[in-house]
Amino acid sequence: MKKVRKAVFPVAGLGTRFLPATKANPKEMLPIVDKPLIQYAAEEAVNAGIDTLIFIIGRNKRAIPDHFDKAYELESELEASGKLDRLAEVQHILPPEISCIYIRQSEALGLGHAVLCSKSVVGDEPFAIILADDLIDGGDKSCLQQMVDVYEKEQSGVIGVQKVPLENVKNYGVVAGQNTKDRLWKLSGLVEKPKPEDAPSNVAVVGRYILESSIFEMLEETQPGSGGEIQLTDAIVKQLQQESVYAYEFEGRRYDCGSKLGYLQATLEYGLKHPEVGAAFKAYLKKMDCFK
Ligand code: UTP
Repeated sequence: MKKVRKAVFPVAGLGTRFLPATKANPKEMLPIVDKPLIQYAAEEAVNAGIDTLIFIIGRNKRAIPDHFDKAYELESELEASGKLDRLAEVQHILPPEISCIYIRQSEALGLGHAVLCSKSVVGDEPFAIILADDLIDGGDKSCLQQMVDVYEKEQSGVIGVQKVPLENVKNYGVVAGQNTKDRLWKLSGLVEKPKPEDAPSNVAVVGRYILESSIFEMLEETQPGSGGEIQLTDAIVKQLQQESVYAYEFEGRRYDCGSKLGYLQATLEYGLKHPEVGAAFKAYLKKMDCFK
C-alpha cells in the first residue's frame, strides 16, 4: 500500500488581501494568538504521519526557514535568563526526525506552478498539499489525518471539501460528481469560481489535497488559466480523465485566514480556548458586552 509521507506547503503567494502586513512577510507567518499559521499547518501534517515538509517559498523568503531552523542566539539568551519553558517551545517547533526542504518559486505564477516546483523532491509518491491560510480545527482527528485515512482506503487522490452557501461558490473551485458514500464524492469535474446559477453543487474545494504524482505531468501541460496563473484545479480536471479522484467533506471547522474576517474569527476562537489567556480574554469580551 502506498503511504503519504511528503507534504507540500505553497507559501509563495503575494497575499495581496493582507497588505501591508504581507509586504515583507509571507501571510503564512501571521500569528493566530502565538503561533504562525504555517506552524499549525506543519503540526497537522506531522500528526498525520508526514515526515518530509516541502515549502515553496517566494520573494519574502527568509521568515519561514528561520521559523523552523535552530535559533542559536535566541536559545542561549533564553537559557541565560532562565526562561526554560519558552526555550522548550522554540526548541520543539518540529520533532527532530522531520525533514524540511525549501524550494524557491521565482515568480508567483499560481498555485499549480508552485506545486510543480516540488516535482523533483516529491518523485513518484502520493503527496499532500496544505494551504496554511486555510486553518482547520478538526477536533479529535485533524483534517489531513481524516484525508490520509480516505486515501489509504481508496488508493486514489482525495481533495478536502466543505459545503458553502450557494451565493459563495463564486469564490471557490466547486465539485461536480457523485456522492458515493457518506461525505465522499467521486469527482467527474471541478468548476473554478462558477456563478451560483451555473454551479454543479455547493461543495467547495478548500486548502487540503492528497494527489498522485501523475499531477505533475498534468501541470506541465496546463496553460495559464484565470488571472494568468497556472491553476491546480485545471490539472486535477485533466488527471480525472485518467484516474479516480475523490472529494471528502472533512469533519471540523475551517477558517479562511487569507481573508481579514476569517483571520479575525480564528483569532477570537483560538484566543478563547488558549490555555494561558483564554479565561481572561473571555472575561474581557464579556465586560465589553461582545456576546449581546
Ligand atoms: P491565494 O489564492 O490565496 O493567493 O493562494 P495569495 O497571493 O496567497 O493571496 P491574495 O489572494 O493575493 O491575498 C493560495 C495559496 O497558494 C500559494 C499562496 O501562498 C497560498 O498558500 N501560492 C499562490 C503560491 O505559493 N504561489 C503562487 O504563485 C500563488
